[in-house]
Amino acid sequence: MGMRILITGSGGREHALAWKLSQSSRVERVYAAPGNAGTALIGENVPISPEDAAGLLAFAREHRIDLTVVGPDDALAAGVVDVFEDAGLRIFGPRAAAARLESSKAFAKDFMQRHGIPTAAYREFTDSAEARDYCRAANYPLVVKADGLALGKGVIIAADAEQADAAIRTCMEDKVFGAAGMKVVVEEFLVGVECSIHALVDGSGYLLFPDCRDHKKALDGDLGLNTGGMGTICPSGTVDEEMTARIRAEILDRFMAGIRADGLSFRGMLFPGLMLTAEGPKVLEFNCRWGDPETQVLVRRLNSDMVPLLEATIDGTLTDQFPVWDDAAAVCVILASGGYPGAYEKGKAIHGLSKAAFIEGVEVFHAGTKASDGQVLTSGGRVLGVTGKALGLEAARALAYLGADEISFDGMQRRNDIGAPRRMP
Ligand code: AMP
Ligand code: GLY
Repeated sequence: MGMRILITGSGGREHALAWKLSQSSRVERVYAAPGNAGTALIGENVPISPEDAAGLLAFAREHRIDLTVVGPDDALAAGVVDVFEDAGLRIFGPRAAAARLESSKAFAKDFMQRHGIPTAAYREFTDSAEARDYCRAANYPLVVKADGLALGKGVIIAADAEQADAAIRTCMEDKVFGAAGMKVVVEEFLVGVECSIHALVDGSGYLLFPDCRDHKKALDGDLGLNTGGMGTICPSGTVDEEMTARIRAEILDRFMAGIRADGLSFRGMLFPGLMLTAEGPKVLEFNCRWGDPETQVLVRRLNSDMVPLLEATIDGTLTDQFPVWDDAAAVCVILASGGYPGAYEKGKAIHGLSKAAFIEGVEVFHAGTKASDGQVLTSGGRVLGVTGKALGLEAARALAYLGADEISFDGMQRRNDIGAPRRMP
């Protein structure tokens, strides 16, 4: 009998994982908890929250799930993997103790510093007066980060002491990010090109995926507020062989050594966000999960089966895996609700989905969508990820926008420069 797979989460990443995993000849059925209108087309949505470990475990037992794949970071931090593993069920993702590398920026910075992993110089504060004193005497720009998880919004780049002061107030006094902002990390502003690295880690070794580039800012030209990501390209076009060698030696090898030295166990996806600076690659943050919308472009380029990769990660046998990547480039353009990353309305009817899907080489991944009476409605900030795959970045980009042009909903916003030639920093 084929495998039954449960994917937790409801974003574009989860639809992309469901899409890829459902293509495996070994997979019989895919469930998504809670999923979106896209995962419902591929498998079955189940109304369980990704953080409800007990609910997920009961479902997995009842439906004889062979493999659970965790999407979002807060589920990892909540210990869903710990609960499944302790119950003897197979699950993809690191345990909560290792996922702290993402859920606490202070923990991650300390880990990097102790293990010689290049990152921005920093100080951490639990006292707002001390943080203010430090910022008053600092050089600008400066970066203020809430310690905990804040949906990618807890990072404030301060141009001067006044802005740093406001950021400290937001995090530590107004507590806009709740407990996540009670502690802040203040760090040096790094200049360079950003790049997203993904590597499967099986406890003793790692398997590097192709590099991607996200576009974090809401508006064209990298203007506006930080978002969860407005579009991605793969490959990033900025990582040559020499840079790959440095990323392996200075980041991934040292990460593995650090994990071992600290007695941590890490099995799952490690996704370091990097700044490629004049001095070399530096880690902006560690994510302990698949990127969103990086996953959307990675799955488009992965030509071989994904199931063995996930299994080998869990079993510690990644050295036997040789994934096949498409030579073509992939581009993902996010269609977001008007107002995102701020307040936005939901429940807008989405038009043109089938027209976009009809274009050869285009694949549309749902994120914040909901099926209702035969219609697909918006239900989140990032609504859809339209991907194009073609030989060469320009062709892939043209294809993604060809697909995106077919789709509309009230208030829709997108960036028009995903994968466009970069201005040099
Ligand atoms: P993070 O969640 O830590 O990756 O931060 C979100 C975004 O803020 C990053 O993708 C960068 O664009 C920016 N950022 C974070 N830290 C720094 C830094 N030290 N220097 C420059 N930009 C940064
Ligand atoms: N695209 C960035 C992230 O998933 O964190």
